[in-house]
Amino acid sequence: MMFSHLDRYAGDPILSLNEAFQKDPRADKVNLSIGIYFDDAGRIPVLDSVHRAEARMLAEAGPKPYLPMEGAAATRREVQKLLFGAGHEAVTSGRTVTLQTVGSSGGLKVGADFIRRWLPGSEVWVSDPTWDNHRAMFEGAGVAVHSYPYYDPASGGLAFDAMRQTLAGLPPRSIVLLHACCHNPTGVDLTPAQWQALVPLLRERELLPYLDLAYQGYGDGIAEDAHAVRLLAASGLSFFVANSFSKSMSVYGERAGALSVVCADAAEAALVLGQLQATVRRNYSSPAIHAAGIVAHVLGDPALRASWEADVAGMRTRIQAMRRSLHGVLSARLPGRDFGYFLSQRGMFSYTGLSAAQVDRLREEFGVYLVRSGRICIAGLNTGNVERTAAAIAAVL
Ligand code: LMR
Repeated sequence: MMFSHLDRYAGDPILSLNEAFQKDPRADKVNLSIGIYFDDAGRIPVLDSVHRAEARMLAEAGPKPYLPMEGAAATRREVQKLLFGAGHEAVTSGRTVTLQTVGSSGGLKVGADFIRRWLPGSEVWVSDPTWDNHRAMFEGAGVAVHSYPYYDPASGGLAFDAMRQTLAGLPPRSIVLLHACCHNPTGVDLTPAQWQALVPLLRERELLPYLDLAYQGYGDGIAEDAHAVRLLAASGLSFFVANSFSKSMSVYGERAGALSVVCADAAEAALVLGQLQATVRRNYSSPAIHAAGIVAHVLGDPALRASWEADVAGMRTRIQAMRRSLHGVLSARLPGRDFGYFLSQRGMFSYTGLSAAQVDRLREEFGVYLVRSGRICIAGLNTGNVERTAAAIAAVL
């Protein structure tokens, strides 16, 4: 018996819940657990731009060699243009390196391993709360993780002063993990003015920001949601940014993502690229050629790009409509309570303040699944289920 001493895995708070949802036999169940965009018919959309990109790839019938450790050159170029804007100095100067990675999770992990190896004294500070897997990923890489104040339950908004105070007391070279837009799990974002106010603090304290950009386009727009990336790049700070196409292109299982590191100059960037290549080689060797093709075609071809941008706008608009519906039904049913946070929070998620016991009741009695932190994925709502979901939430509140 080699393995009988193993601890039993309790499951993942998000992925295992999504699996439990799939097994639930109830026809009227509602999946608000995982961060996946469903259309109004409750399906994961296949974007026309992605479909056409794949048709081209199939028609080209090209060979499938290993990609380089850093991924496909065309894909990396397109990612840089998408994040920083065409012609940004941080890119044209050669001081930014971008790797195509196995989802943005792959990028986060490669960055975490890099930090452990090359900034061994640095510890990571994540928002309280943050995506469940952030802590696990950095701790798994051997990097200590702490949290800074972020969400203010009293207002359903940002505890910005407390956040700044904590960041102002961190040791130099601490890593500050920040959600570039559509904060997961709260939906509470910094305003452009608050981002601006962070820049001098990050610089004076010599902190190293690590942006996670997983929901680009779901907040205010594709370029608007890259605001923090462009601001930090223009400020001259060095920083990391991991970005994902899972949600924005609806290609979850393709594992399409990237990691970029903005450095002081091109010489430093060359050193960073080399060590990131080494880190990739030790992890998964090289990323996937299919994901590379989808991203390069959709972003690089003007017709596919226009179609994609229209689809992203459609997804964003539908989520905003669901926010309004949920807010409307809940406000009508429970007139004494303020549900304004559904309207002010951005992206797929809202933090409802529901307790774990209330979440359990929603699942068991009403077939409505959300994670036990009270995070709700608005993108799982549709015109057919929003009223009864709101009624179920009102019943347990
Ligand atoms: C989520 O937060 O639900 C998504 O990002 C999916 C995941 O991997 O957890």
